[in-house]
Amino acid sequence: MPASSIRPSALKDSDTIAKDTVVSIIGLGYVGLPLAVALSRKFNVIGFDISEARVTELRDGYDRTFEIEAPILRASSMRYTTDASQTRDADIHIITVPTPVDQDNEPDLRPLESACTTIGAVLKKGAIVVVESTVYPGVTEDVCGPVLERTSGLKCGQDFYLGYSPERINPGDKVHTVDKIIKVVAGQTEQVADILEELYGAATTGGTYRAKNIKTAEAAKVIENAQRDINIAFVNEATMIFQKLGISAYDVLETAGTKWNFLNFTPGLVGGHCIGIDPFYLAHKANEVGHNPDLILTGRRINESMGQFIADSIDARLTGKSRILVLGLTFKENVPDLRNTKVREVISGLEAMGHEVDVHDPLADKTEAQQFFDIDLKENLSNLKGYDAIVGAVAHSVYRDLSTNALEGMLNEGGVIADVKGIWRGTEFSDGVRRWQL
Ligand SMILES: NC(=O)c1ccc[n+]([C@@H]2O[C@H](COP(=O)([O-])OP(=O)(O)OC[C@H]3O[C@@H](n4cnc5c(N)ncnc54)[C@H](O)[C@@H]3O)[C@@H](O)[C@H]2O)c1
Repeated sequence: MPASSIRPSALKDSDTIAKDTVVSIIGLGYVGLPLAVALSRKFNVIGFDISEARVTELRDGYDRTFEIEAPILRASSMRYTTDASQTRDADIHIITVPTPVDQDNEPDLRPLESACTTIGAVLKKGAIVVVESTVYPGVTEDVCGPVLERTSGLKCGQDFYLGYSPERINPGDKVHTVDKIIKVVAGQTEQVADILEELYGAATTGGTYRAKNIKTAEAAKVIENAQRDINIAFVNEATMIFQKLGISAYDVLETAGTKWNFLNFTPGLVGGHCIGIDPFYLAHKANEVGHNPDLILTGRRINESMGQFIADSIDARLTGKSRILVLGLTFKENVPDLRNTKVREVISGLEAMGHEVDVHDPLADKTEAQQFFDIDLKENLSNLKGYDAIVGAVAHSVYRDLSTNALEGMLNEGGVIADVKGIWRGTEFSDGVRRWQL
């Protein structure tokens, strides 16, 4: 570290983080809010978001992502703001904004750059800026660092410091929560890494793991998700083969799963903004350094084709134009998140073949479904009937708990139950009901 380097302000006069350390969380979504709540148990936390609506509902004790329950939210000491100047005192800024891809599946770093611009304008000397958003190796130092320098007029690595700590939470998973899982940290200097270990170590019982450097931590996160994508792509391809052979992928997987080292992945739609997006971040970097990311992109292509494959498979079991009810629209079970849901592709595939499709999802926001997809969600299952097919697209608990009578009651004589997620594998249906599953 250069002799002229400023001491990280979180340390004050000691070797450990001061009790009154101020932490700002930039972006209060699925990742930022649970982290902010966990850190606010130990530190002085201020949450910043550009969305007035989000900040207002959080102040009212309501989290639309269902990650944090109202009593916990209300009991938190955290402050919320849409005014970035309120984060001016922060010793540590943690960025948890979206990192999507554009229409060409190239990384869209605009929210991240914009967050850095916001922080740069209020950055104080000695502050640490930690990126938690998922990125390809190099973004924190090569993209965020320069934006922060430009907007703050301060020198990176001397007046302020960078860190990276990937987020691993899995929305809807109430076991592997942010306060229980191992937190990977990396710092621009060893001292910064020490501080981040102490900071995150105070917020999780899972402990911390210090990566060799920032790029290593960035790379580790992006391959955690790319690995899942590729494994699911393999199972999806195997499923397409088994469909032609007239055997159930679930039966095959259950059988193969009796081997001690067989990996546990199930077929289906890969949506959301992590597993279906992050491989494109790695692919982008691979191309930039002159490597063709063949396997990664093949996996993506197979998973992207699943929506149409499912629509075609259902259509093949119907006679003529049919009325179809799709159960579930969100990108995965028991979450309200509609971003990049691949159920949309099953629906548009079926509609393109002339079928009339109704959609039900008690977790999805009706207005968002209308805005994003022009879908008018049906509200009350008990009022729905007369369908030629029912598609179990998302394994929400409410669909697992549906009685056979309720399901069959919505179906016409000879109708098809298309069980995309294996929700009703153990259910016996009446003789007249035809069943299709992966
Ligand atoms: N959701 C997950 O399960 C998950 C898991 C691990 C990692 N990640 C990664 O974490 C990051 C955040 O994802 P998320 O799911 O929490 O996103 P999100 O969309 O739920 O939340 C992002 C929040 O950031 C706000 N925001 C956008 N631009 C901003 C800006 N410039 N300044 C301040 N606030 C801004 C938005 O209003 C929103 O409230 C992404 O990089 C994602 O890949 C997500």
